[in-house]
Amino acid sequence: MEAKFDFGMIGIGVMGSNLLLNMADHGFAVIGFDLKQERADKLEAAAKKGTDVKGTTKIEEMVASLKKPRKIMMLVPAGKPVDSVIENLLPHLEKNDIVIDGGNSYYKDTLKRITYLQDKGIHFFGMGVSGGELGARLGPSMMPGGDKEAYHYLQPILEAIAAKTDGQSCVAYMGNNAAGHYVKMVHNGIEYAIMQMISEVYDLLHRSGGLTNEALHTIFTKWNEGQLHSFLIEITAEVFKTQDNATEDPSDFLVDKILDQAGSKGTGKWTSQEAMDLPVPIPTIDMAVAMRELSVYKQQRIQAAKLYQSSVSKIEITQNVLNHLENALAFCFTIAYAQGLSMLAKASEELNMNIPMPDVIRVWKAGCIIRSALLGNFTEAFKKDPKLPNLLLDPDIAQILENRSESLRHVVQLGISSKIPMAGMMSALAYYDAYLSDRMPTNLIQAQRDYFGAHTYQRIDKEGVFHTEWHSDTKE
Ligand code: 6PG
Repeated sequence: MEAKFDFGMIGIGVMGSNLLLNMADHGFAVIGFDLKQERADKLEAAAKKGTDVKGTTKIEEMVASLKKPRKIMMLVPAGKPVDSVIENLLPHLEKNDIVIDGGNSYYKDTLKRITYLQDKGIHFFGMGVSGGELGARLGPSMMPGGDKEAYHYLQPILEAIAAKTDGQSCVAYMGNNAAGHYVKMVHNGIEYAIMQMISEVYDLLHRSGGLTNEALHTIFTKWNEGQLHSFLIEITAEVFKTQDNATEDPSDFLVDKILDQAGSKGTGKWTSQEAMDLPVPIPTIDMAVAMRELSVYKQQRIQAAKLYQSSVSKIEITQNVLNHLENALAFCFTIAYAQGLSMLAKASEELNMNIPMPDVIRVWKAGCIIRSALLGNFTEAFKKDPKLPNLLLDPDIAQILENRSESLRHVVQLGISSKIPMAGMMSALAYYDAYLSDRMPTNLIQAQRDYFGAHTYQRIDKEGVFHTEWHSDTKE
């Protein structure tokens, strides 16, 4: 069989097909494998005239028709399906072939797979792919990690299909080992935090402020034209104008009909778990995970609402309040990025991944779910210091935050007085205030630990480790 294809894909649902079609548009010959014949047919039917796209249901045919070293990507659900695809592929592969897992796999699974396949001479890449189905077709953001030498074979194809920003592609080698999936995991943690805080602002404007979906659409559309310009603000504006097709009533908006319980596929939770293991504080991401979890306890919430009869107080939404909300969100988004990036900086060292932080910012600037105008400020910060441990230490970022912190204090007070839970935004403010404290109240915690458990403490005035007999009984 003639080896004429440049790239193979396992799993040609919408995402997989769209990535292949995107490659074909850039002049690459591509082949997709799926067990279902109809998917293979659909892929071929979707190809533009003059492009080289083939669908097959025979894995050996796909592998045999790829140029060497073969470049094969799988887009299958994380977990066992990835391992079974690897086992099905292995008998057909040769030394130096490259296999990419483009799903949201847990990075520790990716590490195991890298080692397993390395022994067989196969290069395994964990690659975060962001931007959804449309992004895959028009330009995704991609975060590949693995063997650097082998990356050179992937680079031209990935750079051609990626989203572009400032003339550069939103794909870059993210580092050793499972760095690609690690960076994507943290991307998703930030995504959770930003979505949570947008939902808190919605709650304040809607439940307490009484704003209609039309008004919310107008506000979010306007915000998307300013400092908050971002994919998540843009789609939020779109959501508010979407009517419910299931009813005849034009005043029925879909968002009002959606059950207030959020699912999750694990990446947000993993971000929190891994941050605690490092350890590095990312309280706003943790809170976003916790609030999604709380949302699932719907029956208990209904019961509690009846028991406490607690009602939200009304507030008046003036232009001044809107300005504060806009600034507060810009502040909170910056804190969410800062927490995620500080985690990446620490993990890069601890896990020996060598993550290029300026490239992470570039890759997130277009194509991905957390793309936003704010990332431009971070580029400058990392240009000054590529090893910056926390964005908050950059003088220009400090200015951005200082200029907006009073707005956030105002917004949080509105939340408290109107009984709108703003857990994510409050955590962002508390993180900021704590990070800026050259003396935290942790001296008291140390005293308590030493009191009840003789855990010892250090002093500010002399070197050494100390223990005190605190209790009067034990003193005697
Ligand atoms: C993206 C998204 C995408 C998705 C995840 C997380 O970058 O395109 O992050 O990967 O949102 O599936 O979704 P959950 O909210 O279900 O965890």
